[in-house]
Amino acid sequence: MQDQIRSLLKKRRGILLAHNYQPREIQDVADVCGDSLELSIQAAKTDAEVIVFCGVHFMAETASILSPDKTVLLPRTDAGCPMADMVTPEALSKRKAELPSVPVVTYVNSTAEVKALSTICCTSANALEVVESLEDEEVLMVPDRNLALNTAARSSKKVHTWEGHCPFHNLLTVGEVESAKNRYPEAVFMAHPECPPEVVALADVAVSTSGMIRYARQSEAQAFIVGTEVGMRYPLEKACPGKTFHMVSPRMLCEDMKKITLADIVNCLETLDGEVKVPEAVRKPALKAVERMIALAL
Ligand code: 13P
Ligand code: SF4
Repeated sequence: MQDQIRSLLKKRRGILLAHNYQPREIQDVADVCGDSLELSIQAAKTDAEVIVFCGVHFMAETASILSPDKTVLLPRTDAGCPMADMVTPEALSKRKAELPSVPVVTYVNSTAEVKALSTICCTSANALEVVESLEDEEVLMVPDRNLALNTAARSSKKVHTWEGHCPFHNLLTVGEVESAKNRYPEAVFMAHPECPPEVVALADVAVSTSGMIRYARQSEAQAFIVGTEVGMRYPLEKACPGKTFHMVSPRMLCEDMKKITLADIVNCLETLDGEVKVPEAVRKPALKAVERMIALAL
């Protein structure tokens, strides 16, 4: 099926982008694997006609916002992100009215409608840089409370938070981390910034998924405790042969990230079903917020 996918991609002049949490057989057939920021940048600069996005809905939407003339396909349109659904445009408008001159920094894990109401987007790879890029002394960060608190801990700005979270990263406890550290005393602990602040406080480094790959590659350490979704073991092992990765908790498994199969990819390339398209009235304001973030990375 991987060969079939590669030949269908050639026929459609397509590119396959896969998030680091995707199943290994999908990562192996992808043109580019990466974190949310890297995949947004790829979606913005590709000259392919079709983008097959193996990830979740907000990622395909971001690709559609950046590349409106391309066909963006999500092989399973029901692959969503529970955190993205924790902020609605109505609730955000209400909060904005309470904080009239405060800029809104919106995590890319959000719907296009919410991005359209935002000043700038951020990802886990650049949240601090984005907050620091604003002249204002106060910001509102939505929807991830943990990302906001972890960013606030490294910034002098006042950060207003929102009651959203990733149901899997938010599960990780200090007790689980301490027991992993006792079992693997020589290991370095890498945490994702979606984890609670008390967990991030125990980490040697708190970075995005691709940030973990870069860190593990460069580090002299041979063993790592990994505080993120369990799918990260595969790209880490692939990038760092010989090093050992202990996933801190088997409970950190995002079902939405595991929905797409190779058969779904074949099907969407054959039929062009599963198109994600953001309407122009939403896309234009959302693009401003996404482009403003990408401009910082380029
Ligand atoms: P990053 O890959 O950008 O670190 O994000 C993790 C995530 O939860 C994506 O949904
Ligand atoms: Fe959303 Fe968490 Fe799944 Fe990422 S891991 S897609 S933040 S639910």
